[in-house]
Amino acid sequence: MTKTIKIFDTTLRDGEQSPGCSMNLEEKLQVAAQLEAMGVDIIEAGFAIASPGDFEAVSEVARQCKTATVASLARAATADIERAWEAVQHAKSPRIHTFIATSPLHMRVKLNKTPDEVLEAIDRTVRLAASLSPDVEWSAEDATRTEPDFLCRAVEIAIAAGARTINLPDTVGYATPQTYGAMFADVINRVPNADLATFSTHCHNDLGLAVANTLAAIMNGAGQVESTINGIGERAGNAAVEEIAMALKVRQDVMPYRTNVVSTEITRASRLISGITGFQVQPNKAIVGANAFAHESGIHQDGMIKDSSTYEIMTPESVGLTQSSLVMGKHSGRAAFRQKLEELGYSLGDNAFQDAFGRFKQLADAKKAVYDEDIVALVDDEVLRG
Ligand code: KIV
Ligand code: ZN
Repeated sequence: MTKTIKIFDTTLRDGEQSPGCSMNLEEKLQVAAQLEAMGVDIIEAGFAIASPGDFEAVSEVARQCKTATVASLARAATADIERAWEAVQHAKSPRIHTFIATSPLHMRVKLNKTPDEVLEAIDRTVRLAASLSPDVEWSAEDATRTEPDFLCRAVEIAIAAGARTINLPDTVGYATPQTYGAMFADVINRVPNADLATFSTHCHNDLGLAVANTLAAIMNGAGQVESTINGIGERAGNAAVEEIAMALKVRQDVMPYRTNVVSTEITRASRLISGITGFQVQPNKAIVGANAFAHESGIHQDGMIKDSSTYEIMTPESVGLTQSSLVMGKHSGRAAFRQKLEELGYSLGDNAFQDAFGRFKQLADAKKAVYDEDIVALVDDEVLRG
């Protein structure tokens, strides 16, 4: 049977941590509703102790959600965990997500704790979270720069204390697909109580590898992925949920996994996030960029007119768009120009068509993009001159 990978969306928490990306309560509720429409399994609604506004947002998202589990982040501290529970307790399915750093660098410089003190904190705080919430996730911050034996010990303690989701984040986007996949295989093989937990990926995109690393972890036993809409997040962002969902959908032949993502809701979710945050998606961004289903070269346009599978590996409809676009420019050929004229309601005889096509090419050389209005002006002129 095909394994279902749970999608844990952290647009409202890690995504919102992008400088300039903060959202107000109403916007967060809108995003949460769209995430549910998109079939996300878990929504991390915020960091309840961070501010009164964050607390209110997590509480309201928890009250609003009908199908998704709602999580709040909490550091390994009693006050954080209690506040997280206060915020998520009214959800139909609440989760506390607690974390502590496990890499030598973070333990020494940031936490000023010895490795033994960190292990003690994991045991104590995960037990506290499990005494409050039926569902607890624990994260080893900076897992990818953590010493492997220590990571296994920390994971074992967290599971014994009651965590049922274990997240191994690539906090600084340092991993490669090979090292990240190997870390999951190693921990899952070596930790004696690993079978009690679902392992989760959480990848940052500092080297542009977040989605590739996520897929490598799935291939090595991860059952949950943490990601954001449009890949927004700290620094270079988080793994983009739309890329992961579509990679798993399109490449079932080599990755036999599925998600509950309703892919036709992807474009709506992407546009909602860029509208709210003001963060424009780069045009060549996979799946949701303006050019992801646009074709300009004559050879490609000719192929697309004959059969769209020549140059598209998924349909625009599958991500919620109505159609691909053939963009008119200097690389466009006769077939696309003829189709555009038909769309605009023109039917030119052979000579007029040749003439119009020649003038279109001259215009396309002079302009970056040729719009429908340009073509209308050019053809009307042609008709008048003819
Ligand atoms: O990147 C990270 O390590 C995190 C944790 C708090 C899960 O966001
Ligand atoms: Zn993160």
